[in-house]
Amino acid sequence: MADKVRVGILGGGGILGAHAPGFLKAADRCTVVAVAEPDESRHARVRQLLGEEVRLCRDYREVLEMPDVDAVDIILPHFIHMPATIAAAEAGKPVLVEKVMARNVWECDRMIEACEKAGVSLTVCHDRRYHGQWMALKEVVDSGALGEVFYWKLEHNQNVLFPEGSWVRTRDGIGGGAIMSCLTHQIDSLRYYGGEVKSVTCMTQVLPERMEGETVGVIAARMASGALAQLSINWFTRSHRADQGLWYELVHVCGTRGEAYYQSGKGTFVLLHDDSNAAAIERYGRAALEGFVPVPSGEWTGHERCILEWVKHLRGEEARILTSGREVRGTVEVAEAAYLAEETGQTVTLPIEPRPWPAASQ
Ligand SMILES: NC(=O)c1ccc[n+]([C@@H]2O[C@H](COP(=O)([O-])OP(=O)(O)OC[C@H]3O[C@@H](n4cnc5c(N)ncnc54)[C@H](O)[C@@H]3O)[C@@H](O)[C@H]2O)c1
Repeated sequence: MADKVRVGILGGGGILGAHAPGFLKAADRCTVVAVAEPDESRHARVRQLLGEEVRLCRDYREVLEMPDVDAVDIILPHFIHMPATIAAAEAGKPVLVEKVMARNVWECDRMIEACEKAGVSLTVCHDRRYHGQWMALKEVVDSGALGEVFYWKLEHNQNVLFPEGSWVRTRDGIGGGAIMSCLTHQIDSLRYYGGEVKSVTCMTQVLPERMEGETVGVIAARMASGALAQLSINWFTRSHRADQGLWYELVHVCGTRGEAYYQSGKGTFVLLHDDSNAAAIERYGRAALEGFVPVPSGEWTGHERCILEWVKHLRGEEARILTSGREVRGTVEVAEAAYLAEETGQTVTLPIEPRPWPAASQ
């Protein structure tokens, strides 16, 4: 590997806007040499984000053939995550793949298998785990300041409407609907904060004029720890617009000695129910006994931090990789179990049996 990691990016769509700044901030360690994007109307934006020198081509396989590409960042539609990862592994390129890792756990397993066989690493860009304010909530939970955690509430609110013909609108393209696509942010965070999920129930709402899969989904989960979790996604709301609005994302955790929350646009906060934990009082102050107080948080975004850690890992530097393919597989499994629960009207206990995607689109 060259001194600077030479990265190829597969896909030049919307989320490049979050990845490009990450690579530019890590420019002392890496350089993006090529981007594959079939839609030429997007090429000018790619150059704007990454500079005039970046090599542009139309298909991801062209980047995999470039000998001067050391590793690839896959930001393609979900139905291409598995074939592109397998092809990258076979070309000997380590992979960073955007969430959601794949459309189901069977596809995740093929990706893990291919990367392990080729001896290349597989990392999933679940950016929330790397975000300063989300990390601050993890530190609160791990500190024990909340006592025994018994309840989690995680919400995701957005207005997602893609034009007719977009991969996002099809079940095959996205891997189901809003739950697999984006509630996996919340599922992944829940697993990161609170450990593994034991069982789930789920209900969904399909609004066919917007997309084939569900636009709204609600999951109730029992954690292996015994705690209860409630997760919801609503892809048809403008709830967080304007000053008087609600939130885009919320995580609220309740324990026997305190509670804490992260709210997007606001930050991370903690409230202590009693003064029995001297370390917690010292860290958050006595004001935390009276009401929620802000928790000191890093200012970085999740994508930037994830990309920096990935590049450090590729260079053999000490790196904090929190989202290996093996780790994140479990997040996809919870979402798939939720779909099974909705289909059968039953509570589904994990693990589930991996099944191939029935109608592959690629
Ligand atoms: N972490 C987040 O908050 C977040 C937000 C948005 C999207 N995402 C994820 O980013 C990924 C991409 O989403 P997006 O919003 O950028 O979608 P997008 O549709 O805007 O971009 C995907 C791009 O891939 C290109 N493409 C299709 N086939 C290709 C091929 N064979 N070779 C090369 N390029 C090809 C398309 O032309 C398109 O420009 C998804 O996994 C999505 O879930 C994450």
